[in-house]
Amino acid sequence: MSESVQASDVRRVVVLGAGTMGQGIAQVMAQAGYVTHLYDVDAARIGRAIESIKQATDRLVQKGKMLNEARSELIGALVPTSDLAQACSDVDLVIESAPEQMELKVGLLREVKALAPERAILGTNTSSLSITEIGTRTAAAARTIGLHFFNPPPVMELLEVVRGLGTDEDVVATSLAIAKRIGKTPIVVNDMPGFATSRLGVVIGAEAMRMLESGVASAEDIDRAMELGYRHPMGPLKLTDLVGLDVRLMILEHLHREIGEQFRPPAILRQMVRAGRLGKKSGEGFYRWTESGPVPVAHKR
Ligand code: CAA
Repeated sequence: MSESVQASDVRRVVVLGAGTMGQGIAQVMAQAGYVTHLYDVDAARIGRAIESIKQATDRLVQKGKMLNEARSELIGALVPTSDLAQACSDVDLVIESAPEQMELKVGLLREVKALAPERAILGTNTSSLSITEIGTRTAAAARTIGLHFFNPPPVMELLEVVRGLGTDEDVVATSLAIAKRIGKTPIVVNDMPGFATSRLGVVIGAEAMRMLESGVASAEDIDRAMELGYRHPMGPLKLTDLVGLDVRLMILEHLHREIGEQFRPPAILRQMVRAGRLGKKSGEGFYRWTESGPVPVAHKR
C-alpha cells in the first residue's frame, strides 16, 4: 500500500451522505477551510442540506458569532455534487455518513476506493458498526478509520476516533491532527460495538422509552428528570428525537445482535419508526417539533 496522506496535506474532503449528520459534518469541514464536496444519491437532499447550512450560518452572523467574510468562505468551500467520480478524483479524506447499514456503507466505500487516490483516508461516521469489518470488506483496512461526530456536529466538541484492527497508526495520527484543526477534542477508542459513546448513550435512551411504555411518567417529566436532576442538556427522549428514532433503532438492533439482551429495542421505538415518527427530522417523535421548539404529544399505552 502507498503512504496515506499526512494531515498538513489534506485539502479536499468528500462527505458521503447529505442527511442530518452529513450536512453538519460538511459545515464543520468547510468552516475549517477544507474544500468539501457534499455527495448524495438524492440531489434534492443535497440542495436541502446546503440551504440549511446557509440558514444556520446566517443566524450565526446575525447573532455576531461569525463574521460575514468567514461565512462566505465557508459557503464557497462547499461543493454540492452527485458526481462521485469527479468528487473523489483528487480527494484526501472521505467521511462516509450514509445510513447505519453495513451493506450500504461497504458498497459505497468500495465504489469510492476504486475512484479515489490510494493515499486517501476512508473515514466512516458509523455510530456502532465494526470499523474492522468495513475496512476488511472494502479491502482498505489500513486506511479505514471511524470518525464519529455528534449531533449537531458544528456544536458538539467530541470526535470519537475509532481504530479498527488493521488501521494504520499513521492514519490515527493524521485523524487526531485533523480533529484539532476542526476544533474538536478527540478520544481514541478500539473497535468494539457501540464504541465508548453509543453503547452508553442508547442504554439511557432505551430505558427512558421502556419507562414511558410502562407509564412511569410522561415523556416531558422523564426528560425533565434527567435535565434538572442530572444536568443533562436535554432529556433522553428529546435527544432520541434529535438523533432520529430510525438511527437509534439501527444502533440498538446492532448492539442487541453483538452484545446481548440489554440492547433489545423497545416495542414503542419499532412502532414509532414504522409510523414514520422519526423525531425532529420528520416533524414528530416523542415530541412534535414546531418553529418554536418541541411540544409534548400524548402517547398511547
Ligand atoms: N452551526 C453552528 N452553531 C450552531 C448551529 C450550527 N448549525 N446550531 C446551533 N448552534 C449554536 C448556537 O448558535 C448556540 O450557540 P451559543 O450557545 O453560543 O448561543 C448553541 O449552538 C446552542 O444552540 P441553541 O441555543 O439553539 O440550543 P440549546 O442551547 O438548546 O442547545 C443543543 C442545543 C446544543 C443541541 C443542546 O441541547 C445539547 O447539547 N443537547 C445534547 C446533544 C447531544 O447529546 N448530542 C449527541 C447525540 S448522540 C450522537 O449524535 C451520536 C450518534 O451516533 C447518534
